[in-house]
Formats: sequence, structure tokens, C-alpha cells
Amino acid sequence: MSKWLDNAIFYEIYPQSFCDTNADGIGDFNGIIKKLGYIKELGCNAIWLNPCFKSPFGDAGYDVSDYYTAAPRYGTNEDLKRLFCEAHKLGIHVLLDLVPGHTSSEHEWFKESMKATPNAYTDRYVWTDSIWEEPQGMGCIRGISERDGSCAVNFFSHQPALNYGFYKPDRPWQQSMEDDGPKATLEELKNIMRFWLKMGCDGFRVDMAGSLVKNDDNGKGTIKLWQNIREFLDREFPDAAMVSEWGEPDKSLQGGFHMDFLLHFGPSHYNDLFRCEEPFFSGRGEGDISEFVKKYMENYEKSEQKGLICIPSGNHDMDRLARSIHGDELKIAFAFLLSMPGAPFIYYGDEIGMRYIENHVSVEGGYNRTGSRSPMQWDSSVNAGFSAAPKDMLYIRQDEAPDRPTAEAQINDRDSLLNEIKKLITIRQSVPSLQSNGKITFLYAEKNAYPFAYLRSNEAEKILVILNPSHNEASFSCQYIPKEAIYTFGKAVSYENGIITMPGGSAGFYRI
Ligand code: GLC
Ligand code: CA
Repeated sequence: MSKWLDNAIFYEIYPQSFCDTNADGIGDFNGIIKKLGYIKELGCNAIWLNPCFKSPFGDAGYDVSDYYTAAPRYGTNEDLKRLFCEAHKLGIHVLLDLVPGHTSSEHEWFKESMKATPNAYTDRYVWTDSIWEEPQGMGCIRGISERDGSCAVNFFSHQPALNYGFYKPDRPWQQSMEDDGPKATLEELKNIMRFWLKMGCDGFRVDMAGSLVKNDDNGKGTIKLWQNIREFLDREFPDAAMVSEWGEPDKSLQGGFHMDFLLHFGPSHYNDLFRCEEPFFSGRGEGDISEFVKKYMENYEKSEQKGLICIPSGNHDMDRLARSIHGDELKIAFAFLLSMPGAPFIYYGDEIGMRYIENHVSVEGGYNRTGSRSPMQWDSSVNAGFSAAPKDMLYIRQDEAPDRPTAEAQINDRDSLLNEIKKLITIRQSVPSLQSNGKITFLYAEKNAYPFAYLRSNEAEKILVILNPSHNEASFSCQYIPKEAIYTFGKAVSYENGIITMPGGSAGFYRI
């Protein structure tokens, strides 16, 4: 694993909504380059850039129509290359978003694949051999091709599934992983990775990484496929960093990914933290952290030494963090996010508590996700400094509340969320046991109870983390005595006769 992942802190950029420099109402590469200093200043040293390739944007770019060309609305390949270079000058690594499972139905490969005459792309996608048979358990595209067959889709109905084979084919049209079509798709995927890695990107966030091989037996085929890619990377690009949208670290890390996300779907109980009726990090104090911790430990034990479990503040698919928690609750949530193992991921705008925008009509396949994708609020100038275009030209309507948070105002306010996060990042970067690979031991994570406490450690040091998002003071019995405080928020902790008491709305990291 690349050394830089040891203390990587990622910032996720949704390019559409970050910064527009040519007043067309949509973010662009030059805008990202312009704001690299801001990201650096915040303390992040890596970026995950959402898809920025040619696309009809029926799913915000997760419907690629040309993997080798940047979407003109963001700039050119040269601009993207310059983004890599400028980021590197600041010590910032850049991961691109790789969408290996499907393309847009407008991709040239798919147009070729729809033809009745066999050609090099006939087996690029998963097709049945008759229009009257649909692939089971998957949606499909049917009735628009000259070719007799139905093509499986991976997500929306305009995203045909690329063919990596079936783990155990049981219909004549199902190919095995070893067949020529699936093998050619895999080689093409390597070509795409090679192309961007050579240009200077530092690795990939992989979309729906667990979905490639069909009829898979518990991920076995897909794990094997990623192991094959791992060998290729080890040979040609040993420093490339890979993070999967999979949500099952026991599988993805075995496949050779360095990192996997906890997600709002799947078995992780991630939603218990910030996105359920009674989130643990709400001041109401009605939440439950215990199930999350139980699942986390299961994954942690299975994945230790192999790679990192990454907890995002949010992403372009989930509700904004600030939809269900606010004010000090957000600060305590970040004290958690920035003191857990693995590489933290901050979704653009979460550092200023950007809000979920209610009642948005879907933009580019966003549906309810559109409310989490509104343009960044930089300052008090027109369109919050996002774009000089007329307001009605903005790609997504912004938060229009008069008190909408902005980066500028928060930079100038010592007590802002942004400055709290900066402080937390500075501490994390100076205390190795708090970084990606420091061990974690949970000390107090009881059912329906507060506070939440854990130990981060390495051979040299032990840091006790205590978080009490609830409004009420809370105690637990602890064998460790909090000594030197390296971070505190809210009121001070007290210790008496083996009992630690944490006042409501407080957090602290202590050497013991
Ligand atoms: C992933 C992406 C999401 C996209 C989907 C299909 O979940 O994060 O935005 O719509 O895959 O590619
Ligand atoms: Ca623009």
C-alpha cells in the first residue's frame, strides 16, 4: 500500500458543483485548480473526483460514453492533466472515478454491440440470445437493437452491463469469466486505467466494484477479477491507490483494494450514525451506536492488515450530513470521523455544513440525490461565488436561504465548523496513532447509551477518544485516566474512582 495512505484525508469533489470559471453555470477543471489552495488549507491531501468523462449525463456522468476523453463541459484532457500537476505541487493526490460495470447506451461500443452482424463488441455487454428472454434478476434494454437479444443493465435502464462473465453460467448465452468476450472487457478496463495513470492520476474510486461478475457466488468471481487487476497494478503502477464502492471490506480488500467505504446501503449500520430517525450524533441522545460498532468490529477483524475501512461524511448519493444533525452536533460528528481508523472522506461542502436542498426536481438522474449536489457556497458574492452565470443558468439551484453557510464566512469565524475541522485535521496529522493504521479498541459503545469511547493506539502512544453528542452528561467506568488533553470541544471531562463523566455536547481526545 502506498505510504501516503497512512495519513490520507480525502475531499470528494462533484465537479459539476464545485467552481465554475467560464460562467456557463457548471463547475469545471479550472475551477477545481483555482480552489486547490482551499482544499490544502483545510488540511486534505487527497481528492476523489466524481466522473468527468464524456457522457450524456443521464446519471451525472456515471453513464460514460468515452472513457478516454474528458467531458468537454469540464475542460480537456490537457486541463485534467494540469489539475493532476497542480494538485501534486501541493502534495495532493487525485483519484478519478472509474465506472467499470456499465457504460451509457450511447457509447460506441454499445452501438456496435447492438448490430446483428458479429463484430469486436458483440460480447462486450451481457446479452441474452433472444429478445424473448430477459436476463434474470437484472433489468434490461430490449427492442431497440437490430440484434436479437436483451441486454442486461446494471443500474438505470440506459446503463448496459459490461460483460465480465458469469461465475457459473447456466444458460447458453451466459459466458464464463474465461471466455474471450469477458477477457477482452477486462483488458480494456486495464487500458483505461493505464491511460489515466500514465497521465498522472493517483488511482481510482471504483463505482459498484462488487457488481462485475454475474451470478457470482458470494463475490468469489468479482474478487478474482480484482485480484487480476491488482497484479497488473503491482506490475505497472505499484503506487496507484484503489478505493471501492463495495461496502463489504472483507471481500473488497481481499480483491486487492486498499480501501473500502462504509455506505448508506449494505450491512454496516452506517446510517445509525447520522442518517436515521434518531441518529447517534443527534443531541436528543436517543440514538444507538452499538450495532454500528458490532458490525465495524467484525469487518475490522477480518480486514486488519489488509486495508482500510473508510467512513465518509457523506457523498453524492446520500442526504447531506446537515439534513439531520446541526450546529455542535456536526462538530462532534467530525471529531468522530477524524479520529477513526481508515482514511476519512469529506464530501465537498460538508465542512461548512451545507444543507440538503429540499424539493428539487431531479437533475441529470439525481432524483432525491439532487438535494445533496447543489453548487458549493464560497462567499457572499453573486451565486455564492460559485459562478458568474445568471442565477437561472446554474446547473442545480443553490441553497437560497439568507443564512446559507459559506466558506469565506467560516474561514473568518474562529468558532465555525470549518475551523473545528481544520483543528481536528491538524491534530490527526500530528498524532500517528490517530491516522489510518492506528489500532482501535472500543471501550464504551453500549446499546442506547452515551457517551461513546475508544482507544486509538500504536506501539508508542495511546489516545482515549470520548464523544458525547447527547445534551445530557453521561458516564462510564474506565480503566484509563484521561491525562493530557490534545483536543477538546465543549465542557471538560471529569474522572473519579474509575468513572469518567463527559458533559453533554462535548468531545475530547486525551493521552492516558
Ligand atoms: C454508484 C454511484 C452513483 C451511480 C451508480 C451507478 O452508486 O455512486 O452515483 O448512480 O453507482 O453508476
Ligand atoms: Ca464552467
